[in-house]
Amino acid sequence: MGKNIALDDGYTSDFIQPHELEYIQPEIDTAHRLLHEERGAGKEFTGWLDWPRRDHAELLRVKKLARQIRENAEVFIVVGIGGSYLGARSALELMNHTFFNQLVPEKRQGPAIYFAGHHMSAAFFSHLLDVVREKEIMLNVISKSGTTLETALAFRVLRRFMENKYGRVEARKRIIVTTDPEKGLLKELTDREGYPTLTIPGSIGGRYSVLTAVGLLPMSVGGVDVDAVLAGARAGYQLYSVQKLRENPAYRYAAVRNLLYRKGKRLELLVSYEPSFYYFIEWWKQLFGESEGKDQKGIFPVGMNFTTDLHSLGQYVQDGYRNLFATTLWIEQPQTDLVVQEEETDPDQLNYLAGRSWHEINARACAGTMLAHTSGRVPNLKISIPEITPYFYGQLVYFFQKACAISGYLLGVNPFDQPGVEAYKKNMMDLLQQ
Ligand code: PA5
Repeated sequence: MGKNIALDDGYTSDFIQPHELEYIQPEIDTAHRLLHEERGAGKEFTGWLDWPRRDHAELLRVKKLARQIRENAEVFIVVGIGGSYLGARSALELMNHTFFNQLVPEKRQGPAIYFAGHHMSAAFFSHLLDVVREKEIMLNVISKSGTTLETALAFRVLRRFMENKYGRVEARKRIIVTTDPEKGLLKELTDREGYPTLTIPGSIGGRYSVLTAVGLLPMSVGGVDVDAVLAGARAGYQLYSVQKLRENPAYRYAAVRNLLYRKGKRLELLVSYEPSFYYFIEWWKQLFGESEGKDQKGIFPVGMNFTTDLHSLGQYVQDGYRNLFATTLWIEQPQTDLVVQEEETDPDQLNYLAGRSWHEINARACAGTMLAHTSGRVPNLKISIPEITPYFYGQLVYFFQKACAISGYLLGVNPFDQPGVEAYKKNMMDLLQQ
């Protein structure tokens, strides 16, 4: 059997007894049935569930467009927010070079990739234009609703910018729109202008959409093998459809975090020891925050980058208010490694590390931190990823999507709506219209 993503919940044994996991199994069974038989709240948004197993007619088009963009653009701008942004960014940051945009084009073999439309900072936007003004540009605007203000505002500026730079006819070929196939303002504008279009299926909500064209086009432009991403997600479909907690790490993760919640653990820290996980953690924060935080319930998702944050928030985690638990993302085989060299006079007294790899040192930091936090009464979970490849990215995405849906049903909420997001939008619109 090949390697897969693994969950180690051994560090929670001081907090959860084996019989508690046994007793929660029937609730997992119910959640599983609600999801798989499409009987739960939000059932009309479960199109993501068997998405990796479906025939993807649009995939060929995604790849063709990506090829065109790689050939014709020096800069590719992805315009979107929330579920229309974080998945693509998480994939690119995790799998590509840390300084991707600064690499020489021959090494990058494709355009530099920038993101816009995920806030309303005029400074950010004008600085972005300063960087891309003289380059050959293509862009992808992504919005399911087609009315999200942050995205629409950025697109309005970029559309005008592209039309001024290239003329309206050429600009039309350089703007790719990913939106709802049937409705929305963006869809109407797209039909009028004739932009190349990709779709977000109506049955897949924004935060569950990374494996659709929403994520796959930017990934493909960035050189990520999207077939392998989908293959990993397909493996995830098989692995995480088993009902037994002992055999399904995604369900076990959902069960353990729910048991911890019942014991007063209100915050989950998703920790990584690789900075390239930063946007993946942002994606996870949205997935769990928007799916669970409702009806006055839910675990608050917090992102942490260790060992960096150990020097800022480590004190609190070790010793502050005890309502936290931590889940560590660990890569077994790093993308690249360094070995500490011996120095003759040992001026910095680091020779005791000579011959050891940075990954090994990081692994010791991880083990030491998990032990310390466990003894500080912070339960720990560890999710091990064999290596960072498109295949395991797809599997990891599916792991969390499945765990999140089951977690939502365990908690008794609708994991697929986001009524709270509307509240700020409504107030902002009222204020803007005054
Ligand atoms: O998960 C969601 O539905 C949201 O976070 C959306 O993805 C986000 O608000 C962006 O919406 P849209 O794609 O409609 O512009």
